[in-house]
Order: sequence, then structure tokens, then C-alpha cells
Amino acid sequence: MKLLPLVSAGFLLAQSISATSIQKRDTVSDILNDIKNAATCTACQSLLGVLQALAHLGNDAFVDVITSVCQSLGTEDPDVCAGAIGLEGPILAHDLRQMKIGSHTAQLFCSTVFGLCDYPAVTPYTVSFPSAKPAGALRPPPSGKTPLKVVHYSDIHVDLSYETGANYNCTKNICCRPYTAADAPGNTQFPAGAYGNNKCDSPRVLEQSMYNAIKTLVPDAVFSLFTGDVVEGAVWLVNQTEVTGDLNNAYSLMNSLGMPIYGVVGNHDAAPVNSFPPAAVDTTISSQWVYDTLSTAWTKWIGSAAAAEADKFGAYSVKNPNTNLRIISFNSNLYYRENFWLYEEPMETDPSGQLAWLVSELDAAEKAGERVWLTGHMPMGSGDTFHDASNYFNQIVTRYSATIAAQFYGHTHRDEFQITYSDYKAQTAANALEVSYIAPALTPTSGNPTFRVYSVDPVTFGILDYTTYIADMSSPTYQTGPTWQKYYSVKEQYGAQLNPPVTAASAELTPAFWHNVTTLFQNNDAVFQQYNARKSRGYDVSACTGDCKNSSICQLRAAESQYNCVTIKPGINFKKRDVATNPAHSDECDGSAGAKILSVLTANIGVFQQVLQKQLGAGFMSETVNGTTS
Ligand SMILES: *[C@@H]1O[C@H](CO)[C@@H](O)[C@H](O)[C@H]1NC(C)=O
Ligand SMILES: *[C@@H]1O[C@H](CO)[C@@H](O)[C@H](O)[C@H]1NC(C)=O
Ligand SMILES: *[C@@H]1O[C@H](CO)[C@@H](O)[C@H](O)[C@H]1NC(C)=O
Ligand SMILES: *[C@@H]1O[C@H](CO)[C@@H](O)[C@H](O)[C@H]1NC(C)=O
Ligand SMILES: *[C@@H]1O[C@H](CO)[C@@H](O)[C@H](O)[C@H]1NC(C)=O
Repeated sequence: MKLLPLVSAGFLLAQSISATSIQKRDTVSDILNDIKNAATCTACQSLLGVLQALAHLGNDAFVDVITSVCQSLGTEDPDVCAGAIGLEGPILAHDLRQMKIGSHTAQLFCSTVFGLCDYPAVTPYTVSFPSAKPAGALRPPPSGKTPLKVVHYSDIHVDLSYETGANYNCTKNICCRPYTAADAPGNTQFPAGAYGNNKCDSPRVLEQSMYNAIKTLVPDAVFSLFTGDVVEGAVWLVNQTEVTGDLNNAYSLMNSLGMPIYGVVGNHDAAPVNSFPPAAVDTTISSQWVYDTLSTAWTKWIGSAAAAEADKFGAYSVKNPNTNLRIISFNSNLYYRENFWLYEEPMETDPSGQLAWLVSELDAAEKAGERVWLTGHMPMGSGDTFHDASNYFNQIVTRYSATIAAQFYGHTHRDEFQITYSDYKAQTAANALEVSYIAPALTPTSGNPTFRVYSVDPVTFGILDYTTYIADMSSPTYQTGPTWQKYYSVKEQYGAQLNPPVTAASAELTPAFWHNVTTLFQNNDAVFQQYNARKSRGYDVSACTGDCKNSSICQLRAAESQYNCVTIKPGINFKKRDVATNPAHSDECDGSAGAKILSVLTANIGVFQQVLQKQLGAGFMSETVNGTTS
């Protein structure tokens, strides 16, 4: 049994649970008494036995009990408890009903929801390829031809219910809405401005302001990448009607950019949030309507063939007209640990067959001599990505690294990047293979609103530089109309400080370049602290030193998630949106409120017992259920 120091709780956490320690059956009452003071992986699995028995009573019983616990604890507002558990509870109950205590799936569930088990070791799986990597296949050198400009924006999280003058200092995770009469314009001493607030998702006028700025500042851009998350964060209220309206509204406003837009499906672009059941899952809670809505919105930019493909599971592959670039947009929600449809028993290695599809698209692109950009919402080295899926995906990226010119993501809300290596245990400039470009968010919840512009080699589609633009919310004129301005460029800020310097306009920001930037961060703390401040566009910055700096650099060097140094810790309160700069935090747009509500159970077993006793009676308390021999 491996032991891991649990930083935030300051006690040792029993790590994995051996298969032999399961199978014990005990009463609900005994199990709950046993685990009262034991925040361990084993105790968590015992709790799953109780939750499983509760789930077997039906979705309504499960939702009622968990909602009552949430409301008794008061960790969230009562409407948030009821809404979030009502929406997400049936999915969690579906997982629990079929879960085998002690299995890989159960450990992952205890890791994601309760933060009480570490990630289990990756289940080995060798992705099969139709052809071997051609000998000597390398990234092509820059062409020296006049660069193209491409815009990248992400995580717009537009709140169509935002009201100027509504309370920005409310009790929920996003404000600036008249949730109560006291929150309404005129009644609050904390009135929101017209163009947004750090406690609120984006008003529509802010979204429009960004599109206007893009048109003015980058009139020669050839196309845009949008890496997902249209919908706001009031996840306890979000339903199909709202998400459909939000998606249609945003994609129609994007038309004003007057250029093609290559979009992806974000984890918030569904209802319930994060709910993307893979094809093999038997459920009536479908997200087909999301794919229908998006493929319809995307048709004008990707054509009807790619749109029909996108209608299957949200992924498409399309050639950019007039260039040799193929854009492959995949649905990263199929590897996202808060998509609770993925906790199958046993878990699928290739949900919806998307990895096999990716291989066939990349193989065809390689044979056709095309350059490829891969794009998705969640970066595949993120702390939110299942280690297993990330490992399989990494095999694909490694095989086709000479064809994939770059990758593009959002989700973290931070300005950052991730490097793929052929050997993660001996990371050097020479074995850096790929770069994932992660764009920060428009939504002000994690910093100044922002977008990025890449300078792109028109032949190799390598990235030559990027410039980040922001609207500074601390400006006294911000609320009468944001001023968008250049924030920094990579070559200016980092290129000149490398040895040898990388400053020529035609030089590519290669994977080796980015590795060298991480070495610069290690060796020159002032440069690292500037990078750290830029992650949130200068908002709410605190110095990142010691373990924070180490794990921050570790994350940049991990496009495969098992190497990212993210440590599992007990669940955090949904209400609290943590600041962007602490790398130990889970990603900003983790959508599930249900999981976070469930996570407080382990610290409040007494309340759980009282609610069970009251709602289900002594009969349930003396029922014998699956447990562990802790
Ligand atoms: C115990 O677990 C098995 C699967 O491992 C499941 O079929 C059974 O329903 C569970 N029992 C209860 C009471 O939940
Ligand atoms: C929000 O309200 C609390 C008390 O109601 C106050 O202490 C705090 O300063 C306010 N925050 C902001 C950002 O205005
Ligand atoms: C969806 O949510 C909106 C806003 O919260 C609400 O007005 C509407 O009644 C809901 N629709 C359905 C079908 O539940
Ligand atoms: C990375 O740094 C090494 C020296 O540490 C240097 O030899 C190499 O040229 C650099 N690569 C790039 C792309 O800057
Ligand atoms: C950072 O990690 C390295 C190992 O990669 C270790 O040698 C070093 O002591 C760590 N530094 C800090 C400040 O924790």
C-alpha cells in the first residue's frame, strides 16, 4: 500500500485498496459508524456501498436524500442543492448502481468526487495503427513565406440573464443576476457594471465587444478557433432550453466576425452540465440535441459533410479551403472525469470509438501530405483528464507528431501550454514532440477578458508567435466600453531571453522552443513570475514559489495527464471559484456542482445518518450492503 501526503488536510491518506479487502457485507449503520473519522480511500469505498444501496431505491430516493443532506449542511443555497442534485443525481446514481466496490471505476469515482483515492495505475492498452510511423518523419522546417493570422478565443460563458445593476456580491458561484428581490437592480449596494465583473460570467455586450475588437485589431485574420464553453456557470438551473438558446445566440453573434470559425464542444455546452453519454451507454438522458444544435450552427463554416460527422458525437475533420491544413475537432468530454457517464463497469477504452476515428483521420492526412491542427475543449494533459484516456491519446499524438502541426484547447481559463515528449521521464528540448496551445477565457471570473492571435506559417502551419489581447477591467472607462489592447507576445517576452535567442519573425515556436521556455522559467524566477501573472491576465496574482512553481512547470511539461503532478485532494466547495494561479487547483470550469455537493458527505457522516434515518427509517439502516474490510 502506497502512502501519499495529503497537503490540504495534513494527514496521511491510505492510497489504493486491494481487491481482497472488498466483499465484506455489513449494515448501513455499522459502515457509517466505522467510517466516521476515516477519510481514506478504503472508507470512501465503504461509503460507495451505502450510496449504492440508496441508488438501488431509485433516482428519486437518491436525489431526495442527497438534497436534504446538502440543505441541512448549508454549504450551498437550498435552490442550488435542489437544482444541482436534481439534474446530476440520476447520472451519479446510474454509476453507483452498477459499481463494483474496489474496482478501477470505484477508485476513480472516489478520486473525482471525494478526492480520497489517488488515480489508479493506467490500464495498459495499445492503440492500433494502420501504418507504422514513416522512418525519419519530422516536423517540416519553416517555409519563410508571409505568415497568416489566426484568432483563438475560448470559454466565453455568456450569461444572457446578466443584468446591469444586479448584485455582483451574491451567495452563488456566479452573480449579476436578480436571483432574489434583494439582488435586483436598485435594491443592492453592489450593482454590477454593464461590461462584467469578476464574480459573474460574461454579459452579451462583452462578448460583442470582443468580436468587434477582433474585427478592428485583426482585420486580416483568415479564420478563428473557438475552444468551447458558451454556457454560463449557474449549472443548477441550466436545462436543454437554455443551452440550446445560449448556443444559437453565441454562434449567431460570432457570424459578425465575418470569417470561418472552427468550434469544439465544451463541457458546459450540455444539460445537465458535463453530460455526454458515450454511444454504448444505455440511458434516456441523451445529448444528441447538443450535437444537432452545434452541427447545424457549424455547417456554414465546415460544410455539410463535416457537420453530419459532428452530429454523431461532436467531432469532425475538415480541410480548410485553399490551404493544406486539416482541422480535426474532437469531443474531449469523452475523457473528462466529471462526465459521470464514463464510470462504466468496466470502463470503455474508446468511448464512442472516437480514438479509432482520430487514428483513421490522422492516417489519411499523413498519406495525403496534409498538415493537421487538433482542437478540443479540455487539454489532454489536464488534471481533469482520465490518465487512461490521456495515455491512449498520447500514443496517437506521438505516432502522428510529424503531421500534427499544433494542438489548441481552452477549459482551464488560464494562459498556458502543454508539451508532449517522447519520454516524459527524461524531458529535453530534443525529445519534445508537440505543443498544446491553451487559450485563456473571455469570462471575467478568472481574469481580464482576452483573446489570442497566432502568426502561422502558411505552408507548415507551425506557430511562429502569438499575441494576447486583453480588456483591462480596472480601467476607469471599462464599464462604459472596454478598450482592447495588446498584452504581450511570446517572442518579445520569452524569445529574446533564450540562449540562443529566438526572435526572427520566420522562426517557429517549436516544441523544443517551449521546452527551453520552461527551463528559462526554472532558471530565471522573474520571468517565471511574469508568466504566472499572465496566466490570469494580471488579475488577483500571488507569487508562485516552491512547490507551486515546481508543479506549475511540471504541468507545462505534461500533455499526458499521469505526469502532470496534480495531487488528488478532498473535494472543494462549488461556491468558491478558485483563482487561476494555483496549479494544485482543479481546472476553473469544472462544471459539476453535484459532485462537489456529494464530496462533503465524508466529512459529515453524522448528518448523512440522520437524514437516512429520517427519510428511509431503521429498516434501511440495518440493511446489509456491499462494503470493505477496513
Ligand atoms: C453489491 O455489488 C454488486 C456488484 O458488485 C451489485 O450487483 C449489488 O447490487 C450490490 N448490492 C447492493 C445491496 O447494492
Ligand atoms: C461583499 O459583501 C460582504 C459583506 O456583505 C463584504 O464584506 C465584501 O467586502 C463585499 N465584497 C465586495 C467585493 O464588494
Ligand atoms: C429551463 O430553464 C429556464 C430558466 O431557468 C426556465 O425558465 C424554464 O422554465 C426551464 N424549462 C424547462 C423545460 O424546464
Ligand atoms: C534549446 O536550448 C538548447 C540549449 O539548452 C539549444 O541547443 C537549442 O538550440 C534550443 N532550441 C531552441 C528551439 O531554441
Ligand atoms: C522541484 O522538484 C525537483 C525535482 O524535480 C526537486 O529537486 C526540487 O527540490 C523541487 N523544488 C522545490 C522548490 O520544491
